[in-house]
Amino acid sequence: MTGAASGLGRATAVELASHGNVVVIGDIDEDASRQTVSEIEAAGGKCVFERLDVTDRAGVASFVGRIVNRFGRLDCAVNNAAIEGPLHKVDTYPDHDWDRVIDVNLTGAFSCMKHELAQMAAQGGGSIVNIGSTASLKGIGLMSAYAAAKHALVGLTKTAAIEYGGQGVRVNALCPGSFQSPMNDRLHGNDGSKIGSAMPLGRLAECKEIAAVAAWLCSDEASFVTGAAYLVDGGRMAGSTLAT
Ligand SMILES: NC(=O)c1ccc[n+]([C@@H]2O[C@H](COP(=O)([O-])OP(=O)(O)OC[C@H]3O[C@@H](n4cnc5c(N)ncnc54)[C@H](O)[C@@H]3O)[C@@H](O)[C@H]2O)c1
Repeated sequence: MTGAASGLGRATAVELASHGNVVVIGDIDEDASRQTVSEIEAAGGKCVFERLDVTDRAGVASFVGRIVNRFGRLDCAVNNAAIEGPLHKVDTYPDHDWDRVIDVNLTGAFSCMKHELAQMAAQGGGSIVNIGSTASLKGIGLMSAYAAAKHALVGLTKTAAIEYGGQGVRVNALCPGSFQSPMNDRLHGNDGSKIGSAMPLGRLAECKEIAAVAAWLCSDEASFVTGAAYLVDGGRMAGSTLAT
């Protein structure tokens, strides 16, 4: 899985390892990734770190190749690595930031999926979970590149689900609402109470509440779930209260 040095990625790696999976994590942040490995090993789980930048297409190919060489198969993959990008309206959004957000959040997931799908189809099955967002389903002012990438990720997910379902490969997007993480702190400051109060459940999610659903989508428990954009948002997208 990608982006497991931090936030949801780390929580998902911990959750997957707690179910007995050997988890291979790829991330650009080596020090923080090693903390994820230590946390998992301290709990008796198995985790391997490989340095990976998801925008490096050759690096992604060799990352998946090394996993298959070492373990013989790839049962599930969580494509989670993402960046939020800077905050600008569309007319002033810097081109190089647009390119970077699309490269990491969309093309990075596409590159991973190419190799994950080829392996899973060859071995006769598997499960891919792409981490989307409520920004996969609605716009977010000042975050055009992020919202565009997250919308497109759902289209990519659904297309792959159609193409590979016959080979036993399930592909889903998990679309969380706001949860406590370093990305959320960068966007909103480390006081989540204001944004949490806009949620029907009245709070932000903890990473482990989202990670539990990611692990479920990976597992055979979700054997008939594919092509879904699975909302885990504390009811945020259900609607709003009547204005008074
Ligand atoms: N935080 C939220 O409220 C929220 C809400 C909805 C969706 N999401 C999504 O959830 C996922 C995890 O978000 P988070 O809040 O835990 O973020 P985070 O910033 O805490 O963690 C992101 C991880 O991705 C890694 N990463 C960044 N660029 C990379 C690259 N080029 N190659 C490899 N790894 C890279 C980082 O090192 C880090 O480990 C993301 O896909 C994000 O878009 C977050």
